[in-house]
Amino acid sequence: KHLGSTVWSNTGIGKRTAVDLAKRGARVIMACRSRERGEAAMLDVKTESGSSDVVFMPLDLASLKSVRSFAENFLKSESRLDILINNAGQISVQRSLLYCFSGKHILPSSAPSRVVTVSSVAHNFGHIDFDCLNKHKTLGLGSTMNKYSASKLCNVLFTHELNKRLQGTNVSCFSLHPGQWDRGWGTDPSQKTKFKSVNWTNCCRSETPEQGCQTTLHCALQPGLEPLSGRYFSNCTVRNLFAKARDDAAAKKLWELSESMSGLQ
Ligand SMILES: NC(=O)c1ccc[n+]([C@@H]2O[C@H](COP(=O)([O-])OP(=O)(O)OC[C@H]3O[C@@H](n4cnc5c(N)ncnc54)[C@H](OP(=O)(O)O)[C@@H]3O)[C@@H](O)[C@H]2O)c1
Ligand SMILES: *[C@@H]1O[C@H](CO)[C@@H](O)[C@H](O)[C@H]1NC(C)=O
Ligand SMILES: *[C@@H]1O[C@H](CO)[C@@H](O)[C@H](O)[C@H]1NC(C)=O
Ligand SMILES: *[C@@H]1O[C@H](CO)[C@@H](O)[C@H](O)[C@H]1NC(C)=O
Repeated sequence: KHLGSTVWSNTGIGKRTAVDLAKRGARVIMACRSRERGEAAMLDVKTESGSSDVVFMPLDLASLKSVRSFAENFLKSESRLDILINNAGQISVQRSLLYCFSGKHILPSSAPSRVVTVSSVAHNFGHIDFDCLNKHKTLGLGSTMNKYSASKLCNVLFTHELNKRLQGTNVSCFSLHPGQWDRGWGTDPSQKTKFKSVNWTNCCRSETPEQGCQTTLHCALQPGLEPLSGRYFSNCTVRNLFAKARDDAAAKKLWELSESMSGLQ
């Protein structure tokens, strides 16, 4: 089966995911916000995978204008989308990136297809302040860690609601905690000060990005996962979620707010 895929990212886990998919013969679209970093990463992915079927397309998820033009470009040049991987994420969230979904035609027409959203175990500490979201268009005015965990909770709730909206389409969706790997947060003193409350001994195990992308690849590729659509994975295993991460009403509200804020409704 043709494995078309989109991987948001030019570094870390996203880049390793792209290398693996390209090695398996997928056509890989790397959607990254910086042309310079994105094109450099695309060349690395080509070299490391031995595949020439790797494409860079500009996408800045913090700009709705960029999201729209990415979607237009994508639909112009691509005839199918088998696996969409929402990998981009940032610890220091300047602006909240709310994923919203309008792949209404291309994903079902490529079915069986999948949407994989990279969340984090940090979603457990997340809280969504809808008043703040309405009023200030941000996930929070508090600490970086609070905003990050809220954004990761949004990823899980997004997947929960998306699954409902995809019923009967043969498109399935998953959220996940990737393998933790240390990108220097634990060693850079300025970062250590910023996140004082984090126990780095527990948090950042020095796994490699190759290990870090295994759960993403599992959710993207493992045959037979369809009955688990909407669920959350860690270490390539489906996990139970706390009530707030499978809250039907919150997931619906977040979806509707995302739609109205992005002008899709
Ligand atoms: N590493 C871990 O231990 C860990 C643990 C739990 C969850 N995660 C999650 O795993 C995912 C990947 O993380 P990582 O460790 O690979 O981090 P990373 O190396 O910092 O990669 C994040 C990627 O997101 C991209 N990005 C950020 N903002 C963007 C925007 N507005 N538009 C488009 N792209 C944007 C960045 O692009 P630029 O190069 O342009 O900045 C970067 O390529 C994230 O969602 C993260 O929250 C990671
Ligand atoms: C979904 O897949 C099943 C099994 O392959 C197939 O019978 C059904 O027609 C598909 N439905 C849609 C809407 O594509
Ligand atoms: C951090 O975690 C390690 C390993 O569990 C533990 O030995 C250590 O005491 C913890 N440090 C703090 C400050 O809680
Ligand atoms: C991940 O799963 C493997 C295989 O089941 C297991 O050996 C390993 O201990 C698990 N790792 C973590 C961190 O849970």
